[in-house]
Amino acid sequence: MEISVIGAGYVGLTTAACLSEIGHHVLCADNDAMKLDSLRAGRVPFFEPHLDELVARNHKSGRLEFTTTEKAIDFGKALFICVGTPPLENGEADLSAIESVARQIAQSARGYRLIIEKSTVPVQTAQRLAKHMAIYNTNRLDYDVVSNPEFLREGSAVEDFFHPDRIVVGAESARAVALLQEIYQPVLNSRTACPAHSICPAHVKPTFVVTDTSSAEIVKHASNSFLAMKISFINMIADLCEAAGADIERVAEGIGMDHRIGPAFLRPGIGFGGFCFPKDLQAFVHIGEKMGCNFSLLREVENINVARVEQFVARIKKELWVLRGKTIAVWGLAFKPNTDDVRFAPSLAIIRRLIAEGAKVQAYDPQAVEKTKKEIPEMIYAENPYNAAKGADAILILTEWDEFRGLDWQRLLEAVERPLMIDGRNMLSADEVTSHGFDYVSIGRVPQPSSKLAAGQLATPVAAKSE
Ligand code: UGA
Repeated sequence: MEISVIGAGYVGLTTAACLSEIGHHVLCADNDAMKLDSLRAGRVPFFEPHLDELVARNHKSGRLEFTTTEKAIDFGKALFICVGTPPLENGEADLSAIESVARQIAQSARGYRLIIEKSTVPVQTAQRLAKHMAIYNTNRLDYDVVSNPEFLREGSAVEDFFHPDRIVVGAESARAVALLQEIYQPVLNSRTACPAHSICPAHVKPTFVVTDTSSAEIVKHASNSFLAMKISFINMIADLCEAAGADIERVAEGIGMDHRIGPAFLRPGIGFGGFCFPKDLQAFVHIGEKMGCNFSLLREVENINVARVEQFVARIKKELWVLRGKTIAVWGLAFKPNTDDVRFAPSLAIIRRLIAEGAKVQAYDPQAVEKTKKEIPEMIYAENPYNAAKGADAILILTEWDEFRGLDWQRLLEAVERPLMIDGRNMLSADEVTSHGFDYVSIGRVPQPSSKLAAGQLATPVAAKSE
């Protein structure tokens, strides 16, 4: 099918590249001319596993092109709207970009268009879009407006496109549903090989869920809010474990074995970040309250998350006492592994607090350094975890990159001033870390003193315990 995707951000570019991979002819548009040039030259402006190879392959074959919004509106029978909906001061989503694209479509497209709202929006946006388009429809355009929320996770977005749990379509006409089904047929039938795997694991075929537009919009916000609620819940229980001398890992395992709860999203830590959960949660609270509903439960989810930063800083101070003049190594800047995204990353909030208290921070991240430099230029950036740890009074793990699992402990012990590791993601095992002479502090687990090796004395390496 001839498809246009408006907006070449994380969601738009991934959607465009994956749609071209499953056989559609896709025009991907953006208002940023420099971004378009860079995409045409094969440069993806952010790190997302497998996306660059998909963009290169499909651009070369001519199935994926980069163009202006005007040309894209003129081209696709199906128009995916993937423009940003950033938060306003009061937490409400800013819908001006969506409104502007809808107006352009109404004023310039001819014939029939399937308008697919992919950006995350408040409930009733599709209804408003349809009404708004009717006002500006000067060419007797025939159109349907549908909601088709995305559930892609950064870091595994390509894999998620090919192996979704479900494809949700909110539509008011059978014609629109049939077109969406046609677009996603290769994914629904698991017909196209997923570029993220050489051999795809046996996945259950995705369910095609059809609802009205408002229900589909709520599915998106409610899913993200529910996942955020699970994280704040486990963080609250982690605090109790710590106070009571219990172990959150065992508790989470015990809870997650109940199939009604499930084991996912029960990892405690420094809180959730990224451009989705914090803003979607705020926007959902805003909508709920605007519609007269009691959303205090979700307000508390947000409060718990915001407090994680201060709690973590307090934990660091408990260990280091005074921060002024101390050297602190930070491992991990991205809001989660396998991405270079630092938007609303708790790591950045923690670093800003440490610098404000006079600490010298030396940071390392495999992907997110360039983006962090724009936010915190005054910090020292290291090329590897060992250089970051040079002369450090503590090492903080703030993102659970796989790279931090296979460490050269001897090199690390020689680099630090004081062997103390504060693991904000519970990614290492206390036994492993302490057996190498480090003190280990983590979240919701009983603090582990080291095996009291004298400074400089090296432990016999033990096999890394699998997590
Ligand atoms: C999230 C959703 O998972 C996607 O389904 C959704 O499409 C996307 O938002 C979106 O709305 O665009 P994403 O923000 O990429 O995806 O990342 P997640 O993997 O969901 O992680 C979000 C945050 O929660 C990260 O900071 C992560 O470290 C944290 N987290 C996650 C925890 O602290 N504990 C957990 O157990 C899981």
